[in-house]
Amino acid sequence: MIITTASLKGGVAKTTTAIHLAAFLQLKGETLLIDGDTNRSATRWAERGLENGGLPFKVVGVNQAAKYSRGIEHFVIDTEASAEEEEMKEIVDGCDFLILPTTPDSLSLDALIQTVELLKSLKTEKYCVLLTRIHPSPRREGEEAREFLEQSGFPIFKGKIREAVAFQKAANQGILVEQVKDSKAKLAWKDYFEIGKEICGG
Ligand SMILES: Nc1ncnc2c1ncn2[C@@H]1O[C@H](COP(=O)(O)OP(=O)(O)O)[C@@H](O)[C@H]1O
Ligand SMILES: [Mg+2]
Repeated sequence: MIITTASLKGGVAKTTTAIHLAAFLQLKGETLLIDGDTNRSATRWAERGLENGGLPFKVVGVNQAAKYSRGIEHFVIDTEASAEEEEMKEIVDGCDFLILPTTPDSLSLDALIQTVELLKSLKTEKYCVLLTRIHPSPRREGEEAREFLEQSGFPIFKGKIREAVAFQKAANQGILVEQVKDSKAKLAWKDYFEIGKEICGG
């Protein structure tokens, strides 16, 4: 399985999603996270974690990917925000499944609409929208975004990722959210675990 996270806009949780879906896939088979972002956010995440026990999978740059692919069953590719059609063509061709994380604000949703239009022009259907950083009720942004996306006919995961500081702590410490000492850490991990199940079918 090759899963890629992509968006036209930064800050929508692409890297956070890539890290946690790689952790999910690692439970099923040897997994490699390929860091395709020149910011190297995923690589730095892994480096920060070395003194805290490290991540359960390897993170490598695109230039190292061929060598470290030996014996790997699943790949997750984290990309940088880009609106280039050529780039998106490569991204689509290079994966089995494309995940489009989006936060529920109008800037992100506007960017998402553009991404989906680009994907439609590329005639691909192997993508799905993931709502991230969703505040609990009584806030309604998440549900409103879902209604809007469903009405627009966009494929969208049933599950969603809650807003939780545990994710920021995980990034700072270079570990997985489930390892963070925080009252919401287990629920936050469960959010990604459920998305993993949706992707892998149970
Ligand atoms: N579910 C979440 N709850 C709270 N903060 C989050 C969540 N997901 C991501 N973040 C934070 O949002 C910021 C952007 O996330 P990141 O994964 O780096 O996005 P991208 O790779 O799309 O730029 C980071 O500071 C990250 O810690
Ligand atoms: Mg990123």
